[in-house]
Amino acid sequence: MKGRDHPNDLDAIMDISRFNDDVTSVIHAVEDNADAIFTWDYGKGERAQLDKLYEKAKTSQWNATTDLDWSIEVDPYNTLNFQDEMATSSVLTNDPTSPVASWGDAEWAEFGHQSLKWRMSQFVHGEQGALLCTAKIVETVPWIDAKYYASTQVIDEARHVEVFSRYLDEKLGGGYPINPHLRLLLDDIINDSRWDMTYLGMQIMVEGLALAAFGFMHALTDEPLLKKILRYVMSDEARHVAFGVLSLREIYADMTAPEIRERQEFAFEATVRMRDRFLQQEVWDYFGVDTREITRRLLFEASEDDLQFQPLLFSKIVPNCRKLGLLDAGDGWLRRKYTEIGIIDYEHLPDTGEQFLTYDINEPRDIDKPAA
Ligand SMILES: [Fe+2]
Ligand SMILES: [Fe+2]
Repeated sequence: MKGRDHPNDLDAIMDISRFNDDVTSVIHAVEDNADAIFTWDYGKGERAQLDKLYEKAKTSQWNATTDLDWSIEVDPYNTLNFQDEMATSSVLTNDPTSPVASWGDAEWAEFGHQSLKWRMSQFVHGEQGALLCTAKIVETVPWIDAKYYASTQVIDEARHVEVFSRYLDEKLGGGYPINPHLRLLLDDIINDSRWDMTYLGMQIMVEGLALAAFGFMHALTDEPLLKKILRYVMSDEARHVAFGVLSLREIYADMTAPEIRERQEFAFEATVRMRDRFLQQEVWDYFGVDTREITRRLLFEASEDDLQFQPLLFSKIVPNCRKLGLLDAGDGWLRRKYTEIGIIDYEHLPDTGEQFLTYDINEPRDIDKPAA
């Protein structure tokens, strides 16, 4: 892995947060090595499933300014109906040597608030990554149906950046800079010259994870503005992941074993970076506690009961990699790696290749019914 000898190299995981040296700069430039590709084959609908997604996207648009009630007052301390998972994590709370062993309800309430701000901030930064990546896909993908579809995703992602940054700014009182692990991942995706790597990094890995995170948050909030935002965003995101799965299945079918292995390694590195981003090092730093010791406990000692949020995040990525054939291609390298970091059990959960209809805002489903 770039920048470390082993996925669980604690020194490298910690060190990286010190590399975020331009947090005060308003812009961040990344070299984009890809060619822009014209196609003279304008045969719309040659890829029927992509064409169907494009038509669906055109009738599923919403307006962040007029479809949401921004006058709703939000209590930033009571936005999510759950005690932060860290407050019940036995490796942090039941052990007197833990750096946060002395924390009471007030500290954990503030932690929940900071953690929400941090999570929403990473959503905003990740959404901007998606905005840039899909603009890049419009340029680099050689198929007209994919260019058409990706163009609808550009406006979707612009709307997502708009809506989350406005919520963060107006309702939560501002946010955090981009997490270095997420930034490294987005930089790698933009930097790569191969168009299918943009899909794999963004559409499958980052967006697959986002869809699970949004669904989790949607289930945990009764705050009406956030609930509606998440519901709308999910209806878009489900299309986006479907776009990635459909496109990559076609191109992977013709790849050689060494080419597939490069995709497996890219997928694994992206998975580890996303796992590391969820350690929320900046939030622990905010409280001035020993972030390294907390990170060590969360990485090496926590059980699944300690971390209910993080494992859920792999519930879309692993099935999507399985559906793409990446788990078992070649000598099954990715299956072995996912087994090593303990997330292979998610492989049989539903993938998101055809799930987008479940989330369509024009077709209310179980997800929209009030909780019993
Ligand atoms: Fe998005
Ligand atoms: Fe998206």
